[in-house]
Amino acid sequence: DKGGFKHFMAKEIAEQPTVLSGALSAYLDKDGISLPDPGLDFDKVERLVMVACGTAFYACLTAKYWFEQLAGIPVEVDIASEFRYREPPITKGTVALFVSQSGETADTLAALRYCAEKADKIVSVVNVPTSSIARESDLALPIHAGVEIGVASTKAFTCQLNVLLMLALEAAKSRGRMDSAEQAEVLETLRAMPGIFNVALQRGDAIRKAARQIAEARDVLFLGRGLMYPLALEGALKLKEISYIHAEAYASGELKHGPIALIDKTVPVVVMAPRDSLFDKTVSNMQEVMARGGKVCLITDAAGADAAGADVWQTIILPDVPEVLSPLLYALPAQLLAYHAADAKGTDVDQPRNLAKSVTVE
Ligand code: M6R
Repeated sequence: DKGGFKHFMAKEIAEQPTVLSGALSAYLDKDGISLPDPGLDFDKVERLVMVACGTAFYACLTAKYWFEQLAGIPVEVDIASEFRYREPPITKGTVALFVSQSGETADTLAALRYCAEKADKIVSVVNVPTSSIARESDLALPIHAGVEIGVASTKAFTCQLNVLLMLALEAAKSRGRMDSAEQAEVLETLRAMPGIFNVALQRGDAIRKAARQIAEARDVLFLGRGLMYPLALEGALKLKEISYIHAEAYASGELKHGPIALIDKTVPVVVMAPRDSLFDKTVSNMQEVMARGGKVCLITDAAGADAAGADVWQTIILPDVPEVLSPLLYALPAQLLAYHAADAKGTDVDQPRNLAKSVTVE
């Protein structure tokens, strides 16, 4: 049942405030974060290896910033199909973490089995608690996204981020890098996030307008720095999956190492940049794009829109959130841009050509 929406994907994007609110309450009680027992002994973790495919891989890339910056745990992130054939050494003190919506992705499952006898602990973050990946883990953490039908993953991504952030916050606390009061402060905004999602979704018109223009393009570039780099990758993946527009994402700082050669007035550049600690650097990349006639679609907050100047082609303004929580919020415009571009092109949004919801063969 599409609940009155034109596509399951539109419904799944729109239900994220409610879904996130349920997912949050599954991991929060009045005292803070509550993880299933026996959980993880974060003090003893020397290295975290995260493995996944597609959107789940981008959730891992985002979480790398969290685990490293908040908790000081060295993290490696890998694509399952690369990891499994490389025979990577898994040393003592390594926790292996697998993220999968379906819990049945063949490469991710094979990577898990490779780590099974080697890692201190196998942890998974899954949407289907009865799945193979969940069953073969020492600790399986459900994301509580509910059934996701659209081939393009949306609510599963925000719910994966939610669980990964909870883990990083717990790790930061148990490793003495964050005290209870600091954790409580982040959790307070996290609890408010469903409401902030609603505000962002109400700004859908600006996103639809930008998407209609983007739908005309043959190639689109996505840029982001820090926590926004994985989001740029996710935005590009979503756009190519369902609208069939060629889209690439780069870390903003890589622009002048190659992709800037592509810039001209026919290639829209989507820049994901809240006014965070890295904003000024991203603005200078944006100016390099505009100086070459490039059309910038900036996804930012009010302060970022003010600072960016008048030459920006399209601006999508989101509510202000603390930097650490920005990936959850910026997932929404990434999804909506792709959705509205695909809808404008009239593609089969829920069943894009050549793709399957669950990739159970390699
Ligand atoms: O079920 P999984 O999370 O393991 O699936 C991984 C990818 O196949 C999946 O995220 C894919 O990239 C989506 N179609 C992205 O929208």
